[in-house]
Amino acid sequence: MAATLDVRPIAGALGAEIHGIDLARDLTDDLLGAIRQAFLDHLVVFFRDQSLSSAQFMAFARCIGKPITYPFVPGLEGFPEITAVVKRPDQTVAFGGNWHTDTTYFPEPPMATMLIARELPPRGGDTQFANQYSAYDSLSDGMKSLLSGLRWVSRSDKAEASRTREDRATAERTVLIADHPVVRTHPETGRKSLYVNLAHTAHFLGMTEEESMPLLQFLFRHQARPEFTCRFRWAPGSVALWDNRCTLHQAINDYNGFRREMQRITLSGDVPV
Ligand code: SIN
Repeated sequence: MAATLDVRPIAGALGAEIHGIDLARDLTDDLLGAIRQAFLDHLVVFFRDQSLSSAQFMAFARCIGKPITYPFVPGLEGFPEITAVVKRPDQTVAFGGNWHTDTTYFPEPPMATMLIARELPPRGGDTQFANQYSAYDSLSDGMKSLLSGLRWVSRSDKAEASRTREDRATAERTVLIADHPVVRTHPETGRKSLYVNLAHTAHFLGMTEEESMPLLQFLFRHQARPEFTCRFRWAPGSVALWDNRCTLHQAINDYNGFRREMQRITLSGDVPV
């Protein structure tokens, strides 16, 4: 019998908290199937008050997908696929502090990302997410048809992204480049979503930056409209699991002078089509 979850949406656009689960213990096949369905339905799901060691966080990640390493910041000792996402009190730039979907400069960008909150500022440090099915669905038919054949180039050295790794990266000399469709079809739901992002989209394939930017600027503004978003307030032990194939996210940098530490795992994906 399929497990029934206590799923509580946190906004109209996307995002739901799942209550009553201990991720360190309760992971039966039925429950994992129900979590997967909630993830597909709500695009980002949250679990509160999880007391997970790095090994338990990794075990949960392996139940959802295949953890992969992040190319620019070394992983935790003993857990190369777990990246510490830290902002120290003396730092003013937040990792992931503008709208993006993770590591689209890979030919096969990650299907999902998981984040667990370890240490938080007394206020602020929320994360926002944006629903890219809604961003696509709300475009005019004319714009949808213009975008349908277009591809874009993703570069890991685009300034909007590389400056958010400032003071953290160890391998910035490596430049990773891939190209992807502007509109992708989700391999599990079959729905179309807008698949560009401010941090990693450099230009349309076959066009210059100057030619690409007017339309890209429109898309960057459009895809983050408030009605497509939700905002999550973390507490220590909160866990998020989001679908990179149909969402954007950004870390809100409003807590200078305080420390925030998260741990992140990305899960391998496929070639966007
Ligand atoms: C990220 O972009 O992966 C980090 C998001 C956050 O720290 O809230």
